[in-house]
Amino acid sequence: MNFHTRKWVKPEDLNANGTLFGGSLLRWIDEEAAIYAIVQLGNQRVVTKYISEINFVSASRQGDIIELGITATEFGRTSITLTCEVRNKITRKSILTVDKLVFVNLGEDGLPAPHGRTQIRYIKDQFAEEGRED
Ligand SMILES: CC(C)(COP(=O)(O)OP(=O)(O)OC[C@H]1O[C@@H](n2cnc3c(N)ncnc32)[C@H](O)[C@@H]1OP(=O)(O)O)[C@@H](O)C(=O)NCCC(=O)NCCS
Repeated sequence: MNFHTRKWVKPEDLNANGTLFGGSLLRWIDEEAAIYAIVQLGNQRVVTKYISEINFVSASRQGDIIELGITATEFGRTSITLTCEVRNKITRKSILTVDKLVFVNLGEDGLPAPHGRTQIRYIKDQFAEEGRED
């Protein structure tokens, strides 16, 4: 799993207990997962369909640097299933896990559309497919 995105926990992200507010974290995860699905499926029209059990493993505090990891576990006909872990960047202690996030690929009519993908595409492969050299 690649941990691409880092976040710095700030006062506006805290709950009344002085630790990271779950809603802030879920917003970051949904956005990160949506970006992952958009890149993998090559389509901006993807929507969150389902998020499985969320386990808030340990608290995070103001000033912590945390990192979000996402990877695809399954490619369906119109859907993609992802898994997510958030951890403390310095200590590597797990903060949260989400087993399954399902995103659905939509056509211009807003209905589920086959995406034709079967496996993870890496950036270097995408450039190669498009005939670019970097
Ligand atoms: C996304 C949406 C268009 C899908 O419609 P639908 O009638 O469920 O479509 P389908 O039954 O054809 O299912 C589409 C895919 O989702 C999967 N799916 C549907 N319900 C699911 C569920 N509860 N859990 C996991 N996957 C599910 C299906 O297996 C299918 O995947 P596949 O083609 O890879 O096999 C519709 O549910 C919707 O608009 N939901 C709101 C999405 C949204 O606004 N999200 C933002 C957050 S509020």
